[in-house]
Amino acid sequence: MALHRLTDIVLGVPDVDATIPFYEDFGLEHVGAGRFATVDGGEQLSLVARDRRALVELGVGCDDADDLARAAHDLEHAGFAPIVDADRVTVTDEGSGVRVRIEVAPRYAQGSAVVPASNGPGSELRVNERAPGGQRDGTVRPRKLGHVVVGTTDVEGSERLFVDALGFKVSDSVRKVGKFLRCSTDHHNMMVSGAPVKFLHHTSWQVEDVDEVGRGASQMLAKDPARHAWGLGRHNVGSNFFWYLRDPAGNYAEYYSDLDVITEELRWEPREWSGRTSVAAWGPPPPNGFFLPDDLAEKMMAGS
Ligand SMILES: [Fe+2]
Repeated sequence: MALHRLTDIVLGVPDVDATIPFYEDFGLEHVGAGRFATVDGGEQLSLVARDRRALVELGVGCDDADDLARAAHDLEHAGFAPIVDADRVTVTDEGSGVRVRIEVAPRYAQGSAVVPASNGPGSELRVNERAPGGQRDGTVRPRKLGHVVVGTTDVEGSERLFVDALGFKVSDSVRKVGKFLRCSTDHHNMMVSGAPVKFLHHTSWQVEDVDEVGRGASQMLAKDPARHAWGLGRHNVGSNFFWYLRDPAGNYAEYYSDLDVITEELRWEPREWSGRTSVAAWGPPPPNGFFLPDDLAEKMMAGS
């Protein structure tokens, strides 16, 4: 099975028009009608109207028609009921409510980011010039969609679909919470997290480096400080720098950089994290309700 990346997501929000400016300010290119593009991934976000916020659809790219046929076979063999079309295979993860669409897509061909030289004790690699990260003034533009984290009411069922049937690999896990899964060389492309109700926790978008994480969030907060959710920090699981902002519907959107990359399965040992270390290596404490947002109770009451 040669899944190789996430392609795009369809995000349901109650008010599409009120949500568009958030993702424009986030640095995604609005190509019209609530559809947004990243620099390296093309159109990767579509906003659609839904009564309550939700991740409606997740696109996963594979290499060729043989991969599609294999996905259909493996899903059926595992007891799922995929819809098989000529150019795609779709299946719904009942635990999270996410429709997964597998389709043939080109692999990423990202141009290399220039890593700025930095200075430290006994190592002065940048002399007689200012740090580039402090000199930038353009709008931060996410390079690609990196991962999504969804709440599932059926962790085992969701893992059976993504891991056993579709072949996502387990990179790390957090005890009693869930597993970080990858379908590419990125440490994680998705996490399914046990929750009392199905919901989208966050989407995550790659930027060049920690300066872009900080600059992106600063630009967002300059327009509306209430968008701040959590950051700046560095995760232990995946190692990435992070800063989370909250969109008008209540979804978190994360800028990230410097995520772990796994190219050789045998050289990576998945680890089970727990307690404080599973939250972050450093950074401010997460705000109350960050992991289980306040609107979940309302969502449960509505039975959606
Ligand atoms: Fe994340």
